[in-house]
Amino acid sequence: MRVLIVGSGGRESALAWQCKRSPLLTELFVVPGNLSLQTLAHNTKALPAFAHSNGIDLVILGPEQPIAAGLADALQAQGVAVFAPSQACARLEASKSFAKKIMQRAAVPTAAWQAVSDADTCRSKALARLHDDGGVVLKADGLARGKGVYVCHSTDDVEHAVRCLFSPAGATSATCVLVEELLAGRECSFFSFVGAQPTTHVGFAVDYKRLHVGDRGPNTGGMGGYCPVPWLPDDAAATVISTVVEPLLHTMAAQGLHYRGCLYCGLMWTTRGPRVLEFNVRCGDPETQAMVLSDRRDWLAMMAAQAGLEVAMPRQSIPPRAAVAVVLTSPHYPYSEGRTTQPALLPQALFDASSDDLAVFGAALQTADALQLRTGEGRVLTVAAAADALPVARARVYEKVAAIKAGWPDAHFRSDIALQVD
Ligand code: AMP
Ligand code: GLY
Repeated sequence: MRVLIVGSGGRESALAWQCKRSPLLTELFVVPGNLSLQTLAHNTKALPAFAHSNGIDLVILGPEQPIAAGLADALQAQGVAVFAPSQACARLEASKSFAKKIMQRAAVPTAAWQAVSDADTCRSKALARLHDDGGVVLKADGLARGKGVYVCHSTDDVEHAVRCLFSPAGATSATCVLVEELLAGRECSFFSFVGAQPTTHVGFAVDYKRLHVGDRGPNTGGMGGYCPVPWLPDDAAATVISTVVEPLLHTMAAQGLHYRGCLYCGLMWTTRGPRVLEFNVRCGDPETQAMVLSDRRDWLAMMAAQAGLEVAMPRQSIPPRAAVAVVLTSPHYPYSEGRTTQPALLPQALFDASSDDLAVFGAALQTADALQLRTGEGRVLTVAAAADALPVARARVYEKVAAIKAGWPDAHFRSDIALQVD
């Protein structure tokens, strides 16, 4: 099978790594790709003409932007099989109000909400909720690259959020904002592969969104993660499947929205069970980097089957291993814009020398010379390891992180990933 992955981050590097292990794979392309992928795949630029003229059997879309822009529809129109949803289904992630309305119809448990379209109404509804509940969450309706959510605990927080959300120069300049109930609990995510075959449930993972140890600092694209999730109840997967995934897919299908691709449920596990925080229409980053080492099934076969290709679905009964992923970023991330930092040089061999137990997935990297890569800005790489138990996987990851840090002293990472897993 000739496979093309779209994207350039740690998640796409991890998906490439998974595909490379599949006996189904004959050739792998990644567009735009990143340089750490040199030995795994060809990097290429033109699409979807490329997919068509190169006999690509399956395209896997990594990030949300091309999915929300309708790339899966464009590829399908050319007869190319795609593991990603249509633009219409991608509204689950691209429009929080769309997701809320579907959840309401499907009776999926989620935070109570109201949609508002002007700053004054937003402020008064938010202050009322703050007064009643001691907290409130404000969210821009559309895709905001993680910058559109404000968790407020004071009137100052609400004022700041309203200013940011509605000012034309603000991060989002929203035209629709959700005022949401503040939920308390522990966060996790649940991945399912959906499409032409019975849904395959990949499982739970935890993502660390804040920049610093102890969940302090600004939200980021994700600083690390682990899976599976020991603190969840034994029937957690059954609960999420029966109260979230199945009713959601059923309700969408009844509206002619036939989902295909990875369905990511972002959950708050409360004392009353799971509540949906968000849906994503793709694999999560950096959860995927842990999951590909944890799950020993053939993901390429699973994705190809859901995309409608005739391949045998892998056996479902291989127990997952414990896996931990730690992200290394440039020193000013997530405030890298306009700042230059001294790049570090990392050996290409770092990214090639992966095993079943340890892998380094590159993202923001540039060519330095034939043997070395230069670090860029942002989330530069993810180290992931698997073992029979989380503490062992954790020790394995941090040993590698320490070795990389020795050659790249400016790297930032969180030292508490998978520290509290009970
Ligand atoms: P979202 O992009 O909707 O997942 O929100 C980003 C982050 O904001 C989540 O990972 C949570 O940490 C937090 N958050 C979002 N909605 C809520 C909520 N209703 N209650 C508590 N925290 C929330
Ligand atoms: N890890 C969260 C996300 O991919 O959006």
